[in-house]
Amino acid sequence: MLVIGVPRESFPGEQRVALIPASVPVLTKVGCEVVVERGAGERAGFPDRAYEEKGAHLVPDRATVFAKAQVIVQVLGIGANPARGREDLPLFRAGQVVVGFLRPLGSPEAIEELARTGVSAFAIEMLPRITRAQAMDALTSMATIAGYKAVLVAANALPKLFPLMMTAAGTLRPAKVFILGAGVAGLQAIATARKLGGVVSAYDIRPAAKEQVLSLGARFVELPLETHDVEDKGGYAKPQDERFYERQRELLSRVVAENDVVITTANVPGRKAPVLLTAEMVAGMAPGSVVVDLAAERGGNCAVTRAGEEVSYHGVRVFGPVNIAGTVPYHASQMYSNNIVAFLLHLFPKGELQFNWEDEITAGTLVAHEGRVVHPAVQQALSASR
Ligand code: NAI
Repeated sequence: MLVIGVPRESFPGEQRVALIPASVPVLTKVGCEVVVERGAGERAGFPDRAYEEKGAHLVPDRATVFAKAQVIVQVLGIGANPARGREDLPLFRAGQVVVGFLRPLGSPEAIEELARTGVSAFAIEMLPRITRAQAMDALTSMATIAGYKAVLVAANALPKLFPLMMTAAGTLRPAKVFILGAGVAGLQAIATARKLGGVVSAYDIRPAAKEQVLSLGARFVELPLETHDVEDKGGYAKPQDERFYERQRELLSRVVAENDVVITTANVPGRKAPVLLTAEMVAGMAPGSVVVDLAAERGGNCAVTRAGEEVSYHGVRVFGPVNIAGTVPYHASQMYSNNIVAFLLHLFPKGELQFNWEDEITAGTLVAHEGRVVHPAVQQALSASR
């Protein structure tokens, strides 16, 4: 019987859990057993007894989870948990499987260390963006939450209301919100800002995003930039040269200055986020305006951003939230858990430790196996880091 282990998350302040009680029966039905470290789901709102009621076995500590389980599921695994992730290394054993966010391109050295333990490590962020993999797409889940929450952060900080209000005390003009980068997080931010009553516009480098922006009732900002070679075959933005970004910043200056709120989400996979807002552009916004930089963890889209902090710059509040999905731990865990279960059922449809290496999803997410870093992109990142 395949034993799936759920340790308590060790990243400082992390409240999510990789598997929620409702997911346990889905796994036991295919013959798996689930062992959960006591208190693992508590901070997300899932008490121990809820796991027990659903048929999981609770164990007193982390070491017991690792000793009993053949498959360890985590939210933030080693590469994504620089503070505490390495503490798990002595607990892993050869042949064990680990699944989680492992940040393999950002911390390839951590994946190399993990590989040395002999585990088969699957980095969920490497999941190919194909229709078949949608139910497993934890990046999309977390980006959805991040986009929603970024708008709440902005609304909470803005000295204005979002909606148009016609009251006996006069008419209040609606807040103007600009979303830079209309991928998963950006589109959710557009929808949320619209629901709050803001007047929303957005821009993305990928021409395909325009239709999605318009379908959410926002205005698409047109910039006269050459955008014919901006998207790779996976649908992701390709990196551009500094001249392109320079021109983009010039064109964006006026747009940014006109808005009360700017939410930035622009990313290029495996790279530092492009800087699209200069300090000067921030200073050009009206005092009291708000910037929420969702790219803060990858260096930030705004030159003023400090990851994990709020900076006040010429009267503009610039937020650089990190791990923002973790601030909504109940639903973030629910979504993550559903994604992970779909992934596990894909990896082990018969509840047995047997992989189909020919499969695009399995091969695309496997970063370490039999003592080696096996994913070409991670190998490349590793050589580049030396
Ligand atoms: P992401 O988090 O890597 O980037 C966010 C957004 O920033 C992207 O839309 C990107 O085009 C944009 N961006 C990059 N550089 C920019 C610049 N200089 N200026 C303005 N915007 C810039 O992307 P995310 O949200 O993960 O989505 C990437 C793609 O994957 C999209 O095409 C999305 O539709 C697709 N996707 C497909 C899925 C599937 O088929 N299963 C699931 C989720 C996303």
